[in-house]
Amino acid sequence: MTAVPVPHRVVARRAETADTVTLRFEPVAAALPEFLPGQFAMVHSFGRGEIPVSVSSVQATGGLAHTVRSVGAVSDGLCSARVGDVVGIRGPYGTPWEPERARGRDVVVVAGGIGFAPLRPLILAVLAEPAAYRRVNILIGARTPGDLIARAEVASWATAYTGITVDQPEVDWRGDVGVVTQLLGRAHFEPEETTAFVCGPEPMIRATSRELAHLGVPRDQVQVSLERNMRCATGHCGHCQLGPLLVCQVGPVVDWERAEPLLSVREL
Ligand SMILES: Cc1cc2nc3c(=O)[nH]c(=O)nc-3n(C[C@H](O)[C@H](O)[C@H](O)COP(=O)(O)OP(=O)(O)OC[C@H]3O[C@@H](n4cnc5c(N)ncnc54)[C@H](O)[C@@H]3O)c2cc1C
Ligand code: FES
Repeated sequence: MTAVPVPHRVVARRAETADTVTLRFEPVAAALPEFLPGQFAMVHSFGRGEIPVSVSSVQATGGLAHTVRSVGAVSDGLCSARVGDVVGIRGPYGTPWEPERARGRDVVVVAGGIGFAPLRPLILAVLAEPAAYRRVNILIGARTPGDLIARAEVASWATAYTGITVDQPEVDWRGDVGVVTQLLGRAHFEPEETTAFVCGPEPMIRATSRELAHLGVPRDQVQVSLERNMRCATGHCGHCQLGPLLVCQVGPVVDWERAEPLLSVREL
């Protein structure tokens, strides 16, 4: 990993939704070490600042890419980047998903909103080895149909079950409406033999992980990705503190067994 932003050029740009863009990068000169699915980079938009963004594609499969939702100054700067523009990227940082712990087991992936992006390279890694896993289930929730990312790609994936639900349907929406946890009842998995991967807004992570645990999925087999404000990403500034944990050091991916008491305290 490097603590200094390394110049990267935007080589492809895809608008995913009205406010979300996927940018693929190539190094201008020196390359960064390989990222693993679940890890994040600090991405620097020149003149605006730097934010943590997970990888939505890794160098080994498809090239380094980030999927960014515009919510403020820096993310907006990144979403406005064009092919040929240069940004600074440092990393890899943080803990990756651990698909090896799911080998031989059923897999349940639950994504909420932009939380789909960090899960995408994990899903690709799991689907690339169909013999290594039992039934793969992908459950996706979004605010509206227009907020769904990579719909065509999702539709092309061979899974035991893929479910999509939205909070607010549009007139031509024929799919499910409501919270993503309601899809768990239709997924194909034996809870004790299941490993789950969950990423999305914190209330969604809490509700989903609790429901998985209630159904019988071991709490140490539920991997969640936590979001905290980050500045250094190297364990020095304390911005990402969650209870006794520095999320940039022990996260963002942690077991629900470890995350639950910390997120419950914040709820009080
Ligand atoms: C490990 C990690 C991975 C991330 N991966 C992605 C990703 O793949 N794609 C993506 O679009 N975003 C991702 N984010 C969130 C992203 O970092 C924030 O959206 C960004 O920092 C906002 O900065 P800004 O300057 O654009 O907006 P700001 O003006 O800083 O913030 C705009 C709004 O977003 C809220 N906000 C800022 N940072 C966070 C945060 N970390 N968590 C929750 N709310 C926040 C602020 O409170 C404010 O309401 C990730 C965050 C972390 C910690
Ligand atoms: S972001 Fe600075 S300590 Fe984690």
